[in-house]
Amino acid sequence: MPEKFRAIAPGRVNLIGDHTDYTGGLVLPMVLEVATTITGDVTDDRVWHLVSDDEPLPVTLHLPIDDPARIEPRWGRYVAGVLHELERAGVAPRGFSGRVSTTVPIGSGLSSSAALEIAVARVATVDRPMPPTDMAQLCQRAEHVASGVPCGIMDQLCIAAGQPGHATLIDCRDLSIEHVPIPSAVTVSVEFIAPRTLAGSEYADRVTETTAVERIVGPLRDASLESLSVIADEKLRRRAHHVISENQRVLDFVAALRRADWTEAGRLMTESHWSLSRDFETSNATMDAAVERTLRAPGVLGARMTGGGFGGCVVALRSVE
Ligand code: GLA
Repeated sequence: MPEKFRAIAPGRVNLIGDHTDYTGGLVLPMVLEVATTITGDVTDDRVWHLVSDDEPLPVTLHLPIDDPARIEPRWGRYVAGVLHELERAGVAPRGFSGRVSTTVPIGSGLSSSAALEIAVARVATVDRPMPPTDMAQLCQRAEHVASGVPCGIMDQLCIAAGQPGHATLIDCRDLSIEHVPIPSAVTVSVEFIAPRTLAGSEYADRVTETTAVERIVGPLRDASLESLSVIADEKLRRRAHHVISENQRVLDFVAALRRADWTEAGRLMTESHWSLSRDFETSNATMDAAVERTLRAPGVLGARMTGGGFGGCVVALRSVE
């Protein structure tokens, strides 16, 4: 008898701490109400068949999968990546036949791919639950294979471990997590500005650049702004300046929230945006203009582009009247 099953995984927005995760830095994302849902039946064969409400073609995968990066249609690569990694981890997933639907806007920078990965992992491990950190690392590897983007752990770990109404403070060096309540005096809003895809973007260049910086100054997590004077290359110096100052801003933001200093929390978010724009160069004119427009709206305490950059969404902190 097939067993009916449903798994849900939310989208995420990052409040502060961007382009720090892949150097073992600090991030502060939070799960959203929008989510990806998979419903269907566990089957006794080793075939995964999924249809999607948002994609014209279904995905049929015969396990084990040789090369997830060659699966067509392309959205199936995220599914295949997770199933492939589970197989490598010694968990042989059972078959499944079902439907994917999502309220996470696809290509918006709110981690629709990570939500799909975690939802698949939840379905595939239903009879062998896995700690969120293991699941997130597995899904991060799946994302690398499926998209070719060398992403950090933030999205998958926030989605696997986040709690509604809380930001997820993640130390990406030891993967420890603290759930930080969002106080009721403020609210977080997210506005979609422009579509983006990290595949083919300069995301991978930034990973390469920060690796190059770390060869000079050691781990950016431990480096100080003063130590940057030894970096001769001006562009690499700016990249390092962003990461080191952004890690500090995450700590300062959490401290500001805890002492109810909303003005300072907002200021840090806006400062983070300009650091991403000027030093890390992951913004563009459209996103900069959207942040400036958001900052002029009544009640807005701070605003910034969120996530990988080169488009996507603006996140804002607002006071509740
Ligand atoms: C994307 C990646 C994350 C992180 C952000 C930037 O969302 O998937 O790992 O690097 O960009 O902070």
